[in-house]
Amino acid sequence: MRSAGPPYTLDRSLVDRASELLRAGQLVGFPTETVYGLGADASNQQALERLYKVKGRPANHPVIVHIGSFEQLSNWAADVPEAAPKLAQAFWPGPLTLVLRKSDRVLGELTGGQDTVAIRVPRHPVALALLEAFRGGIAAPSANRFGRLSPTTAQAVAEEFGDEVAMVLDGGPCQVGIESTILDLSGKQPAVLRPGMILAADIEKVLGVPVKAAGETVRGPRAPGGLPKHYAPRARLRLLGRPELEQEVERLAAGGSAPAVLAFSPAPEKWSHLSWICAPRDPVQYAHDLYGNLRYLDSGSCHLIVVEAVPEAAEWVAIYDRLVRAAGLAPSGGGQA
Ligand code: TXA
Ligand code: MG
Repeated sequence: MRSAGPPYTLDRSLVDRASELLRAGQLVGFPTETVYGLGADASNQQALERLYKVKGRPANHPVIVHIGSFEQLSNWAADVPEAAPKLAQAFWPGPLTLVLRKSDRVLGELTGGQDTVAIRVPRHPVALALLEAFRGGIAAPSANRFGRLSPTTAQAVAEEFGDEVAMVLDGGPCQVGIESTILDLSGKQPAVLRPGMILAADIEKVLGVPVKAAGETVRGPRAPGGLPKHYAPRARLRLLGRPELEQEVERLAAGGSAPAVLAFSPAPEKWSHLSWICAPRDPVQYAHDLYGNLRYLDSGSCHLIVVEAVPEAAEWVAIYDRLVRAAGLAPSGGGQA
């Protein structure tokens, strides 16, 4: 397991303060192992309305409820299917979100009016401490404005929202780096709605039944992650194979413009003046660095970020998914599980 990055302090008094703010209907940024969340009391309608407003998110896009333990699941789900405890045993706390039929008590604001609710137990120690102090469910989308890059540091959250958030708990850089796998357990066959670093194959191993992979699932407003143009940087992003990447950079450089580059090898000497990041070849490390790398490349004055295409193996599916969306392209569909 990778370390959680530079040390941070789990300060109980800050966690208690954050919990009180949540109870008072305020919004709190907090770390999870995937990305930072923008938290609100999942049982407080006004807090949820404020959450949607600050995030700039359309009201029909549901959010994930974070809970402290599997035992709390029945407070939110109408029924707990057989698969749920098996998956919780294997992956909770951790980066897996389960979509289940919702209990009648669940507010419509959480679910975008659907009859299902998305739930997960995060494994970041600060998130778990906050959930323990708060005791209820915390509704939290990724702590970015709708359609922008997800934040993987407390600083990125503070920069995105400023005073609109009562407090941001700092838990260091996120360990996983991209959002959780979303698995729909409300239908006949388990279906991945959003790929993450827990793969469809990992889930199949635990359940012993076939799981529909993300590319086979119909995409639409159900999961905004499923819409094109999401997770987008400010600059335009293009995903290119290595030879095309070199040709494109050559062409742009000859025309006097300077694209930013995320590639698998360092910048050749002639392009040493460009903003160029050499990305790791290990998908776990690549995912860990991804949003930070894109944020960095996007912070300069460039109009274009060129990203070298990633391998097609299963371990890269979630990364490919985020890159394709950042490029503003609809996903290419099946075969990416
Ligand atoms: O890793 C994560 O999942 C992060 C951290 C903060 O937990 N959260 C996150 O939240 O990525 P958000 O809101 O950015 O994405 C949640 C996704 C959305 O695509 C949403 O549509 C989907 O979950 N979702 C929520 N409830 C759903 C439901 N009932 N059915 C289908 N999809 C749902
Ligand atoms: Mg998000």
